[in-house]
Amino acid sequence: MNRLLQTTPIIRKMTPSDVEEVILIEREIFLFPWSPVNFLDSINAGYHCKVLEQDHPPFGYGVMTIGVDEAHILTIGIAANWQKKGWGKKLLHYFIQLAKDEKATSMILDVRESNHGAANLYRQIGFEQIAIRKGYYPAMCGREDAIVMRMML
Ligand SMILES: CC(C)(COP(=O)(O)OP(=O)(O)OC[C@H]1O[C@@H](n2cnc3c(N)ncnc32)[C@H](O)[C@@H]1OP(=O)(O)O)[C@@H](O)C(=O)NCCC(=O)NCCS
Repeated sequence: MNRLLQTTPIIRKMTPSDVEEVILIEREIFLFPWSPVNFLDSINAGYHCKVLEQDHPPFGYGVMTIGVDEAHILTIGIAANWQKKGWGKKLLHYFIQLAKDEKATSMILDVRESNHGAANLYRQIGFEQIAIRKGYYPAMCGREDAIVMRMML
């Protein structure tokens, strides 16, 4: 498709040439962002790395791995100007379908205890808390717990 005519956002594979733009979003929305190498390693490892885009550059992205039968969302982010418009939910549903297609039977993810917006989204979709990882994340004052959430697919 001619990118100039792209009027509806699409989800496509992330390539190494996207990483520079993805990192700009990552640094905008996360206090402790992934590095470019984290994204490049994920692409090279064959993880499911996707971007959301309407024209260029991307405005959202996510990374998922799939083990034997369990999918794991490693990160998901939507640029600040595009948040709360339903795109995070759309991207998650996309990953859920992808995981089902790959025969995964469950999906897990970690979320900071203080990240109520993301946790609301995950609960709304059907994730439930299954564990706490004490002090899992770096924080401004020490460490912060991660809530581990799972959804059966
Ligand atoms: C979390 C994130 C991916 C959600 O994407 P989004 O496009 O903003 O979310 P959506 O518009 O799809 O929201 C869907 C639902 O999530 C919940 N939600 C999303 N953001 C919220 C917020 N800031 N506060 C409360 N609820 C929120 C709501 O329940 C919403 O449903 P509603 O519209 O019916 O009220 C996005 O806000 C983001 O990138 N945040 C910064 C990075 C981050 O926290 N990533 C997740 C790490 S675990």
